[in-house]
Amino acid sequence: METVNAQVKDIISDCYPKIKELNPAQKAVLESGLLENNSNYVIAIPTASGKTLLGVITAINTILKGGKVIYAAPLISIQNEKLKEFKELEKFGISVGKHPKTSDLSVMVFESFDALTRFSWNSLREIDLLIIDEFHMIGEYSRGPTIECAITRARIINPAMRIIALSATLKNMDELSSWLNAEVVEHDYRPVPLYKDVLITEEYELKNKNDMVLRVLNESIEDSSQILVFVSTRRFTESLANYISGKVKRNIPRDKKQKFRAVARKILEVPERRGTRPTSICLKLAECVENGIAFHHAGLFDKQKQIIEDEFRAGNLYMITATPSLMYGVNLPSKNVIIRDYTRWTSRGPQSIPVFDYEQMSGRAGRPGYDTEGYSYLIAKSLDEAYNLKDHYVYGEIEVTSSKLIENKDAVYRQIIAQIASTLAKSPQDLIEFFGETFYGFQMNTNEFFGALSVDTMEYEINSALEFLIQNWIIQMTPEGLKATDFGNIIARSNYSVETAVRLKEYAKRTEEIDINQLIYAISRTPDMPKISFKGRKSKEPVRDKLNDNRVFAVEIGNDEATAAALMEWIDEKSEYQIENAFNVYAATTRRAAYEASLMVKFFKEICEILNTYSFSNELDRLSARLYYGVRDDIIPLVVSVKRLGRKRARALVETFGNDLSYVSKDELIKIDGIGPKIAESVMKKFGKDEFARFEP
Ligand SMILES: Nc1ncnc2c1ncn2[C@@H]1O[C@H](COP(=O)(O)OP(=O)(O)OP(=O)(O)O)[C@@H](O)[C@H]1O
Ligand SMILES: [Mg+2]
Repeated sequence: METVNAQVKDIISDCYPKIKELNPAQKAVLESGLLENNSNYVIAIPTASGKTLLGVITAINTILKGGKVIYAAPLISIQNEKLKEFKELEKFGISVGKHPKTSDLSVMVFESFDALTRFSWNSLREIDLLIIDEFHMIGEYSRGPTIECAITRARIINPAMRIIALSATLKNMDELSSWLNAEVVEHDYRPVPLYKDVLITEEYELKNKNDMVLRVLNESIEDSSQILVFVSTRRFTESLANYISGKVKRNIPRDKKQKFRAVARKILEVPERRGTRPTSICLKLAECVENGIAFHHAGLFDKQKQIIEDEFRAGNLYMITATPSLMYGVNLPSKNVIIRDYTRWTSRGPQSIPVFDYEQMSGRAGRPGYDTEGYSYLIAKSLDEAYNLKDHYVYGEIEVTSSKLIENKDAVYRQIIAQIASTLAKSPQDLIEFFGETFYGFQMNTNEFFGALSVDTMEYEINSALEFLIQNWIIQMTPEGLKATDFGNIIARSNYSVETAVRLKEYAKRTEEIDINQLIYAISRTPDMPKISFKGRKSKEPVRDKLNDNRVFAVEIGNDEATAAALMEWIDEKSEYQIENAFNVYAATTRRAAYEASLMVKFFKEICEILNTYSFSNELDRLSARLYYGVRDDIIPLVVSVKRLGRKRARALVETFGNDLSYVSKDELIKIDGIGPKIAESVMKKFGKDEFARFEP
């Protein structure tokens, strides 16, 4: 660490005791002057080469000089991992958190950073260094435009801010770095060598791909290493884990078995802590985990995913089968990665995954500190298929990173609103200038593939989007120029898509009386609502029946409808276990979805108020609370006022004593299952007779 000053060095050696010296890739980056000059940088070095540390060193360097730093990452899981890692720096007086107002080093997901560029210009102007992790995300369809435009806006508002972009998978470096006005450092050193290959089932005389996975697993078990397998859907993670678990079952040594059992117990404690019996997914997971095999996907309880990752790190699992959600940035001790499915289902049918994703998934194999070599395997059935896969993936080149801004209509809407609401743009010309500053604008002006027509395309898209926004009363023309309406302003302040906002407004306009079930369905159908999805193709009739019972009629029954039905049960105090059994859905996500729905009800309330409809306000507050807590009307006051009481105990109290708790003594209260002296006291404190009667949520 020659170029690193002594103080930074001391902090690093204290906080990262395992890191003895910088690796060649890191050295190359520092030798290029990263700490001496103030240039922007694009750092393109392989997966596992320690890009985070380079970010941290530069951050500390900046902070010691009195500066502030933002580390932006695409996923909440990466945000959490980095927060945990950076918290160590607090020993040295560097505050670490999620917002620059309160921290020297803040770790933000892209959407929060974007919000900063829209409303918190004072905070943004204090930032000296912005580090963007997984920078290739800029080319992703749905979230790329957000970070792209946030960067563009940040550079307009705080032109002195330095930008460092990190990624392992960039191809068109010249383009990206010219846009950012950045220096580029590339290096191909990977501290843990990664070997990529294609395995052929025919060659091993195996019947199918799953048996090939089993074979690799058996070899891993022999040499005490672990394996991570990527498949394309949640269901495949489960069925593969189930298949493999059945095969290894009989040969697990005793000490291992004990460890696996302990992990399985932890998995089952999660639903119990949430007040529900384990769902069939939990049971299935626990059963596989008992044999050292876990599946990992977005349909599990968050805490369960955490347990799986932690226990895998501790060596207490043989294997994880995962959806591509584990593809980016994570450090797991998997010497072997198998990419079992190289196609993914899309609206256009099965599509081959990009080389890009193949590289990121492969990059999870062989991480420093865990393994000394890594292997990434694709599986082919025949020699022909193997030949093609090798050509395309193993020796293939990653795709160019291109802006998706104009392709994504909603992104264009949102950016126009953001620019106008924040007063950065007052005329169509201002908007065209802003879009010209984005990566899209840059590519359009410099990249021959975009062609001369693209300038017209961009102007056309901006103008027609503007027209749409004016028609929908989001933007208005005034003598002082373009302005956001009240409706436009609440959209700008939210992270909701314009489609969601417009649909909710249309619904509010049509509605004379609030029917909460209709509203839940309307919310469930918006693109911003996380869905509670069906687990399989089993009967969907129970969902239809539930909706019909509540006078909601749907033509087709899909995940939107399943979400609505599940939420209806949730506010009727049904547990995840009951919801899963009733509708055959991934009920572990109910709480997350209900939380989002509760926020969306608040947003809907704001829309109603803008339309001058105040008469629903009370009802909407109640529905928002019911979704948040998962309760029927009568116990809202109890769960809202007594912290950590929860719906189960609240219901038990009311069932035992009725709604008036003011006459109930502490001794009586603690006879209720799960109520200790502390909670009993807060119940007593909160509930004088009057208070209970007067409560308005
Ligand atoms: N010089 C070093 N010596 C030893 N270990 C290191 C060194 N630098 C970083 N590491 C460790 O290597 C691991 C991988 O680092 P990191 O997660 O930053 O990789 P990355 O380059 O961001 O990879 P990806 O592109 O997959 O996100 C981490 O556990 C990190 O602490
Ligand atoms: Mg990383």
